[in-house]
Order: sequence, then structure tokens, then C-alpha cells
Amino acid sequence: MRLTETADVWWKNAVVYCLDVETFFDTDGDGRGDLRGVSQRIDHLAELGVTCLWLMPFYPTPDRDDGYDITDFYGVDSRLGTHGDLVELITLAQDRGMRVIADLVVNHTSDQHPWFQSARASRESPYRDWYVWRDEPPADADKGVVFPDQEDSLWQYDEEAGQYYLHRFYKHQPDLDITNPSVREEIMRVIGFWLQLGLSGFRVDAVPFLIDPAGSLDAADLPDPHDYLRDLRAFLSRRSGQAMLLGEVNLPYKDTRTFFGDEDGDELTMSFDFIGMQRLYLSLARSDPAELAKALRERPDPPEEAQWGTFVRNHDELTLDKLSDDERQEVFDAFGPEKSMQLYGRGLRRRLPPMLDNDPARLKMVYSLLFSLPGTPVLFYGEEIGMGENLAIEGRNAVRTPMQWTAEANGGFSTADPNDLAAAVPDGDFSPEHVNVAAQRRDPESLLNWIKLLTQRYRECPELSWGDCTILEHQSPSVFAHRSDCEDGRIIAVHNFAAESARVTLAVAGTGVGVRAVDLLEERTTNVREDGVVDLDLEPYGSRWLRIIRPGDRYIV
Ligand code: GLC
Repeated sequence: MRLTETADVWWKNAVVYCLDVETFFDTDGDGRGDLRGVSQRIDHLAELGVTCLWLMPFYPTPDRDDGYDITDFYGVDSRLGTHGDLVELITLAQDRGMRVIADLVVNHTSDQHPWFQSARASRESPYRDWYVWRDEPPADADKGVVFPDQEDSLWQYDEEAGQYYLHRFYKHQPDLDITNPSVREEIMRVIGFWLQLGLSGFRVDAVPFLIDPAGSLDAADLPDPHDYLRDLRAFLSRRSGQAMLLGEVNLPYKDTRTFFGDEDGDELTMSFDFIGMQRLYLSLARSDPAELAKALRERPDPPEEAQWGTFVRNHDELTLDKLSDDERQEVFDAFGPEKSMQLYGRGLRRRLPPMLDNDPARLKMVYSLLFSLPGTPVLFYGEEIGMGENLAIEGRNAVRTPMQWTAEANGGFSTADPNDLAAAVPDGDFSPEHVNVAAQRRDPESLLNWIKLLTQRYRECPELSWGDCTILEHQSPSVFAHRSDCEDGRIIAVHNFAAESARVTLAVAGTGVGVRAVDLLEERTTNVREDGVVDLDLEPYGSRWLRIIRPGDRYIV
């Protein structure tokens, strides 16, 4: 495919930014962020180079799972704003070349949802079979519990209903029965509704659970669950040709690949690279990129127009569930040795900077990797300024503290009494006094300015998003080197995982006279030897992106 033909495949080289409206910016002083707040701060995102804003759930909710427990799929929680505020935000974003997507959480509803209230009240309710009921829980009801600190079964007895219902997540989140055609139709209506309001797609929550009919008694007789995902995608694309689905699928690579669909990519448009993320942490813990390289070599290519979503942190715990017990322990020892930092025995409830002792060079190296690896980078709000977590907050919410805008009270997030905030800002080294947007805007060496540079270069380098990636062989164990080729463009990126400087010798581009390797993140040019070999020096935790230029090449550097 030629680059000129691909402008509408926008997710291939997007910069995705996830935020929770509730903790981003509060305009009415009630201690909670709101949609108007996101609108007011839209230029922060535009300047950062964000091209796709992912809003975490903003729907009406009893808020027992931070909004992932929904009581109205068509609503906007009045504490956050109105449909009008959302449309204003989408309009402002579009004006800055930014698309907006939102969480689609349709594996389950809140138990307070009117559908569930009706379903539990009577077997005659039209909503009864929108959920999954049984007289007796199956023998393996305790298998696969997602939140083992709070739940010990996937089935909960409901007094009012006189039956057990399935809940993959918390017991207050009953699963919808996806095999029921009425439920499928309703989900289509929900998608159609938000597309019509201007969304450009969805981050689809818990996709393997969503399409898994295992709870249904007649599961064995049902058609392939992927048919449903294909139907969803076809419907989405019919309604809006530019819309996409970014799925949460944390499975081994070969299984995740099936969620992209066939060669034409007729299911998810994007899927998060959970395996690469976990292997990256193991590599960081070892100061040795071998595990990351291995993961990327094993990672299946998505269909041509689909894409992996790469990330280093998200709103949940840093899950390490796909590492072996020993490997996970290595990461725990390096980045979260205290029990209070760990969650569910499988993850860490921390943000990246405290895990890396706030070492600026190491942090910059990790984000340089994120933007240069094949895939579309997804940032979680606050990463751009290196925010830390607040371990005093329970569970996964430790990483969902208010955005830190200034050094002032509440980090400039809200004028409310600090006790009334949606979540408390951290104390100590990561408090707003030390970490905030205002200060970093003025500091040329800040993480914020580094990430702005990375987003800019990433957008200027189509090789990174569209090219073929090759992991380069060399003799320097602490260095990760890869090359991305696209049409007649070629980028090399090198990253040093160790605290000592390194030199790497790479065969870059065949042979020829006058070939140069031009740095893209700093002013520097290195000559490539006539045999196509180049020697590159790296600082401790250094990172370099270089464009290989042959005489006559027409790229801007
Ligand atoms: C996903 C979300 C998580 C939520 C769960 C239930 O895993 O990322 O935050 O708790 O689904 O909706």
C-alpha cells in the first residue's frame, strides 16, 4: 500500500491518549473533573500531539468500578456533564485534528441498571434472558475470577430472582447474555447512537469475555463467537467508515491474532499488545532487551490495515499475568517489592516513574521505545509529565489520581476542598509541587517536552507506523536495535537498557558511498561506512532515532 492512499486509515499512526473525565480538570469546583474541563484543556492535548482521545466511561454509574459499572448505555453521568458538553468536546477536538473514542463496556451492566432490576424481579420480565441465569452454579464456578481479593466465584445467588447469575467481574456487574439476539441488537443501537453523536470508535472492554458464550447452557450449539465480532465491526463500518474498534484482549499472541479476524481484518481494528508490554518490563528489570526482542519476533503481524496498540501503562494494574512465576517475581523485586504495591498476585498498582526511581534518562528511553516500536502508542493521562501513583488509595485507583496542572493546591485540578476531590493527589516526590504541566512546559529538558518531540517525529516518520520492522542483530547485549523500512525510507532506532554507556555496530543499509545516518532526536550525523556498517554510541539509558539517507533521497530530516 502506498502512503498516499492511506490517509483514512488514521489509527495506523495515531497518538492515542486515555483519560478519565472525573480526574482531568474540574470546572465547577465540586472536586470532580468534567467534560467541560477536558474541553478547556484540549490544547494541552493538541500541543502534545494527541490525535485520538480515548475517554474512559462517562456513563451514569453507581461508581463501584470507577464507571465500568453502567446503568444507562445511552447516558452521560450528570456529575460529569451533559450530551451537549460531550458534543462540544468532540467538536473542539475535531477542530484540532483529534478524534474521540470512548469505552464500550457491554460485557456487563451495573446491577442497578433498570434491565437487571427488571430481570431479577420476574422470570416473565422481557429482560430476564438478557442476563445469564442458572438454578445451580457450575462445578467450576470459582475458575477464572478476575478480582480475587473481592470475589470467589463467577456466579452469584440473587434472592429476588431465586437463581444464580454470571458475573465475570465484580458481583455487582452481571454479564449480559451475548447469545441473545435482542442484546446484540441493543449493543448495535448503542454503537449507532454514539457514532451519530460524533465518536470515531470505541475501546472495547474485556473482548474475550464479551464474545465468550461459556455461561450459556447451550453454548456448544452456538455459532462461532467471532461471527458476532465480525457483525459488530461490519455494522460499525457501515455506520461510519472511519470508525475503529480498539480491543482489550489480554491473551497469548496467537489467540489475540484471531480477534483481528481474517487477512482483511474484519474484526478488531486494533488490539493492545499486552504480551510485549509485560516482556518490556522484564527487559527493564534485567537491563537486557532480549525478552522484548523475543516478544516482538513472535508477535504476529496484524492484517494490513489493523494495528497493535502499544503502551507502557494503563488505568488498571500493570498486569504481569503472562510471565512465569519467577519472571513476575523478578519484576516485583525490581519495581514493586512491597506488598502494598502489588495487586491480585499478578500485577503492580504503580505508575512508571516511581518504578524507575524517577530516573529521567531511563524514563525518556522507555517513551522513546514506545514511540519507535511498531504499533500505535497509547498514553495514559499524566504519563507525559511523569506522574506517580498514590498508594494510599485503594486497589487499581492508586494510578487514577487527578491530573497535575500546576504546583498549586490540588495540582490546579480543582478549587474544591482537598478532602472533596474525586481522588487525592500524591504527597512527596510526585506531589504537584514537583510534578506538574506548568513547570514542565517551561523546562526544555522536561519529560513533557521530550514526549512532544517524540510525537512530532513519530508523526513525521511513516516508516515507523507503516514500515516493515526488523530487529537487528549485534554484539551489544544492553542495546535494542530495530529498523523500519517503508517504500524508500528507512529508520534505525537504538535504545540502551543499561546504566552504562554502550557502543553498537550495525549493518544498516547494504553498501554505497555517501550514506549518512542522521539523528532525528538531536543534531548529529554519522557516516555509514562503505560496507554499510555504522558505529553508534549511546549514553546510559540513551536512545537515538536515525534516518538512513542515501545520496538522492528526498526525505526531510
Ligand atoms: C476492564 C477494565 C477494568 C474494568 C473491567 C470491568 O478490564 O479495563 O478497569 O474494571 O474491565 O469492566
